[in-house]
Amino acid sequence: MGSKPVLEVKQLTTAFFTEDGIIPAVDKVSFHIHQGEILGVVGESGCGKSVTSLSIMGLVPNPPGKIVSGEILLNGEDLTKVSEKRMRQIRGNDVAMIFQEPMTSLNPVYTIGNQLIEAIRLHQKMDKKQARKRAIEIMKHVGLPRAEELIKEYPHQLSGGMRQRVMIAMAMVCEPKLLIADEPTTALDVTIQAQILRLMKQLNENYQTAIMLITHDLGVVAEVCKRVIVMYAGKIVEEGDVLSIYENPKHPYTIGLIKSVPDVKKKVGKLYSIPGNVPKPGTIQQGCAFAARCEFAMERCFMETPSLVELDPGQSVRCFLHETAEDVIYNV
Ligand SMILES: Nc1ncnc2c1ncn2[C@@H]1O[C@H](COP(=O)(O)OP(=O)(O)OP(=O)(O)O)[C@@H](O)[C@H]1O
Ligand code: SF4
Ligand SMILES: [Mg+2]
Repeated sequence: MGSKPVLEVKQLTTAFFTEDGIIPAVDKVSFHIHQGEILGVVGESGCGKSVTSLSIMGLVPNPPGKIVSGEILLNGEDLTKVSEKRMRQIRGNDVAMIFQEPMTSLNPVYTIGNQLIEAIRLHQKMDKKQARKRAIEIMKHVGLPRAEELIKEYPHQLSGGMRQRVMIAMAMVCEPKLLIADEPTTALDVTIQAQILRLMKQLNENYQTAIMLITHDLGVVAEVCKRVIVMYAGKIVEEGDVLSIYENPKHPYTIGLIKSVPDVKKKVGKLYSIPGNVPKPGTIQQGCAFAARCEFAMERCFMETPSLVELDPGQSVRCFLHETAEDVIYNV
């Protein structure tokens, strides 16, 4: 893609300074998202997906967390350097975020209508009556039933799926350049999941909104994303085109994740799961963080840390099985 990236994350490190020590939850992570692109971010629990997104939004709980180094360029503006006032402008205008549990982003004491109308009036010159009309239109557009009544209701009166639709409606109002969706469909049942994903795709197509979609579900990634990054213990271990990665995963962790996806065609057999657990970031001081769980681990893997290397244009992997000296794009 020739366009300039909307978001460029360069060598981002975010750590938590706890009584038990420093946890580098995100460790020298670099990636980019172009306008109109949907990037998937996958990895097991604790890999640093949410901390990456909170870093972009300027919402890392501080203390104990802090962006230690790196750059987060949103249309060239480094978000690690802007004031809290500017960051508040950026949130909701340029970047919107939807979470697994939308209650965390909706204000429980205001009606759905109030929140939507306020968002509309923040972005467009409209009086209250016009904004109310627009709110109802948008609510209908995202498939919210009986919008005229719903507008008077409070977030707790809505189902999880409806609340997520309200969040997408908010994002449509703001027309952000980037939408970060952190497990937006995990808490929802399968049919609603599909509807919410379709809505996000619509938002992406109609407004050219770039989307960073964090999910455990590789099926979801295959359906909506063009590129994907795979995170493990705070680092990117594989990155590339969804098609190439699914057809030809290179990192043993990605291979394991793909093997763990239930195959609807196979009715019998126990589902594969990668043995062992994700190590807490920072606890593995030496070697590849995946070594203890990796069936291909060699002696070297316990001593040295592999670098992320570009194998084919657009597919990079962090594993000694694929590393040759001339491939190394940067050392970590
Ligand atoms: N407030 C905090 N204090 C200390 N450590 C934290 C804090 N928040 C996150 N961490 C640590 O940062 C690491 C990455 O967490 P993160 O929430 O980004 O994982 P995740 O990939 O989003 O997982 P999940 O799939 O469960 O949402 C974890 O090891 C976690 O323990
Ligand atoms: S570097 Fe070694 S331990 Fe790590 S994923 Fe590759 S083969 Fe496995
Ligand atoms: Mg998370």
